[in-house]
Amino acid sequence: MASAKPYLTILSLLFIFLSLFPSLSLSESSSSPSVFEILPKYGLPSGLLPDCVKNYTLSHDTGHFVVDLEHTCYIKFDYLVYYEKRITGTLKIGSISDLKGIQVKKFFVWLNLDEVQVDLPPSGSIYFQIGIINKKLSVHQFETVRSCRDETSASYGQLRPWNLIFELPPPVDQEMSMLLTE
Ligand SMILES: *[C@@H]1O[C@H](CO)[C@@H](O)[C@H](O)[C@H]1NC(C)=O
Repeated sequence: MASAKPYLTILSLLFIFLSLFPSLSLSESSSSPSVFEILPKYGLPSGLLPDCVKNYTLSHDTGHFVVDLEHTCYIKFDYLVYYEKRITGTLKIGSISDLKGIQVKKFFVWLNLDEVQVDLPPSGSIYFQIGIINKKLSVHQFETVRSCRDETSASYGQLRPWNLIFELPPPVDQEMSMLLTE
C-alpha cells in the first residue's frame, strides 16, 4: 500500500501538467490573434479570406502581410473569386493594397484583384479595384467567413454575363470606352 503513494504523486503531477497544457496553448493563441480577428481591427470584413487559412505574417510597421492557405480555393460571391495558396498585400486602416493572389472572374476572364477599400466611417459598401475597374459592392456578403469550393460547384448556375454587364455602375465616358475594349 505504501509503495503506491509515489505513483499516485507522479500520476497527479501528470494530471496537473496535462490539465495545464490546454490552457497554456490557449493563452498562446490569444497572444497571436487569427487573421479573421485582425481584419476587423483594420475596418475590413473577415470574410474577404476563406476559412482555409493555414498561417499568416503581418508586419505592424509596414502593414505588409503574407497569408498562406491550406490549398487553392474558389468562393462564389457576386463574382466567382479564386484564391491562390499565397496571398500578399499591404494592410492599412480601411484598405488592402498591392494585393496579389486573389482573382475575380469577370466577362469569362480572370482578373487580379489589386485593391480593397471601405469607407471610413463604415458605409456598408466595399470597393474592389480590379485592373481599371472599380467595383462597389455591399460589404454584407463578406462579413461571414466562407469555406472553399471547387470551381464547378462554386460557379454552378451563376454564368450570367449579360447581368454582369448591366450590374456595372454608370461609368463616365472614358471609363466606358476602356471597359468596352476589355
Ligand atoms: C506557414 O508555415 C510554413 C511551414 O509550415 C512556412 O513555410 C510558411 O512560410 C508560413 N507562412 C507564413 C505566411 O508565415
